[in-house]
Amino acid sequence: MSNVDWETASEIEWEMYYRAVAGRPLRELFVTAAPFLPPAAPHNRPLVAIDFGCGDGTETLELLARGWTVLAVDLSPGGVARLRESVAPADRKRLSTRVAPYSAVELPAADLVYAGLSLPFCAPGEFEEVWRRITSAIRPDGLFVGHLFGPNDTWAGTPDMTFHTRAQVDALLADFEIEGLREEDDDGEAVSGPKHWHVFHVIARKQRSRQ
Ligand SMILES: C[S@@+](CC[C@H](N)C(=O)[O-])C[C@H]1O[C@@H](n2cnc3c(N)ncnc32)[C@H](O)[C@@H]1O
Repeated sequence: MSNVDWETASEIEWEMYYRAVAGRPLRELFVTAAPFLPPAAPHNRPLVAIDFGCGDGTETLELLARGWTVLAVDLSPGGVARLRESVAPADRKRLSTRVAPYSAVELPAADLVYAGLSLPFCAPGEFEEVWRRITSAIRPDGLFVGHLFGPNDTWAGTPDMTFHTRAQVDALLADFEIEGLREEDDDGEAVSGPKHWHVFHVIARKQRSRQ
């Protein structure tokens, strides 16, 4: 990578992360959710997705390849730069990117909000507003697909990260029909080394009656 803007310690950490996961496959959650994605939108309008905390944008590239229009959002310029370098010329006009914190982005109406391993990095004081924006943006019958972290996670208690109990996850998803909700509570590996993962893998459809 050239032209990396080394502004903050957190950007340096994310840059190390992008290098460590370079060439990664699609996240398992995204693959699991793929059969739930609509093949087309009504009235020939484009299908719109928001990739929240897109990182290197692997899932954005897949959505673009499937014909979706995507807004990819990430605080770190290094991930978004990788995404823009990787996008196929034919898909470029359907990609918008924002290098900004979640809380600063106006979201379009969307058929899918995908947040792969990204929302827990939202500061606790911002999470409620960010979640409100997400749920407002998702069209009726649209999907939220993403990870939330639980209190047994090794990183629980980290300042500027947000964790949810199962009851809190259920409350967040009160206006959604659950298509898939897997709770992982296991030892495993992170880029930084061994850790305990407490992760909710969520596939949820916004109910039509509660817009
Ligand atoms: C663990 S990475 C996940 C990236 C990608 N979705 C993946 O699955 O590899 C988390 C991403 O969230 C971004 N991020 C963290 N906090 C953020 C915030 N407050 N606003 C926007 N992006 C943020 C980071 O820059 C990083 O790219």
